[in-house]
Amino acid sequence: MKITILTMFPKLFDSFREGPVVQRAIRKGSLELTVVDIKDFAPGSFRHIDDSPFGGGAGMVMRCQPVLDALRSVRGSAERGSAVSSRSTIVAALSPAGRPFTQKEAHRLSQVSHLILICGHYEGMDERIYRHVDEEISIGDYVLTGGEIAAMAVSDAVIRLLPGALRSESTSEESFENGLLEYPQYTQPAVYEGEAVPEVLLSGNHARIRCWRLKESLRRTLERRPDLLEGRQFTEEEIALLEEIKKDAR
Ligand code: ADE
Repeated sequence: MKITILTMFPKLFDSFREGPVVQRAIRKGSLELTVVDIKDFAPGSFRHIDDSPFGGGAGMVMRCQPVLDALRSVRGSAERGSAVSSRSTIVAALSPAGRPFTQKEAHRLSQVSHLILICGHYEGMDERIYRHVDEEISIGDYVLTGGEIAAMAVSDAVIRLLPGALRSESTSEESFENGLLEYPQYTQPAVYEGEAVPEVLLSGNHARIRCWRLKESLRRTLERRPDLLEGRQFTEEEIALLEEIKKDAR
């Protein structure tokens, strides 16, 4: 897939691009990552990207022309190919007013052939820019200075799902993948400062280990994120484990 990021601060993405997962995805041919500097599309020596809001008020608003010219330049080059790739291009703007980003959304976006992310700044972007945007994405209920960190968070979650991005195909057991938080993990030594690893994990009994992990995933989710369990379909095994968890708590 292709990910194109439109930003006024392209340098912020230099170390993101160098990360091992991004590099592996590029090497394996699963990812093409392009960062476009919106300033290159602003005319004049001042590279005038923002202006004060009509109607007054604090802050500055990103102007239509540089953002939309930058967008047209990347759409043009991406969509000259097949009709298929143009159908699966998504233009998303990062914004605290967007739809909450979740693991499910990461899976959906990992299926598109070209994801274009626009990083907003200042007090926001001219509303007319949003006519060219398919969706708005928020990474949480807080306000960042700009969309760059949000674009990195979204890209990271998407890229690690691409074929070959991770060294082991280990995403299926992670938090959220089965609607539950991940179970606790341990590594050497078996005893650290008097605290021992749960005995079951040293037993070599894979059926017991699987059952323990499922129970701990359920326990954690119940304690920390009960909202994730609402409306979830439980298997018979999970219902029995939830009963045990309730008994353990008594
Ligand atoms: N830009 C500023 N805050 C943001 C947020 N919470 N999510 C996405 N983009 C943002």
